[in-house]
Amino acid sequence: MTNETSAATPNNTRRGFFLTLLLSFFGSVSALGFAYPLGMYLWPRERRVKGTGARSMKIPLSDVPIGEARFVRFLGKPAVVVRPNEQQTIALSPVCTHLGCVVKWKEKEKEFLCPCHGGRFDVKGAVLGGPPPSPLPIFTTSLEADYVVIKEV
Ligand code: FES
Repeated sequence: MTNETSAATPNNTRRGFFLTLLLSFFGSVSALGFAYPLGMYLWPRERRVKGTGARSMKIPLSDVPIGEARFVRFLGKPAVVVRPNEQQTIALSPVCTHLGCVVKWKEKEKEFLCPCHGGRFDVKGAVLGGPPPSPLPIFTTSLEADYVVIKEV
């Protein structure tokens, strides 16, 4: 007497293995499909500017609402992009020129505040008060369609 209803026949085991392999493959492809755009959004890549060799980075304008600041990493260091109004986009190094703390954007006051010793900078990086000896370094920016492009100086 044979047991034809048993689920553990060699054919079923092989079919189950290939089905699991197929589902794992499509699951991995789907996960990459979600992870890649998310990674590009969170960590935009730097690119070379054609003809100059300078490095640049594109950030969607929608990521930098007017009056707000977006902190990113550019050339392996922190950078911040601010849009004080519709026409103006400014990119700065947020590293305080006093002792190197990273400044924070105070949206209400429209200025940068250093949490370490109270240094204050305006939206263009000029010193407003406190111990910083010089303005925040500024990056070149340009607008390309719906993107702000930060360029290496
Ligand atoms: S490090 Fe910013 S004020 Fe001292």
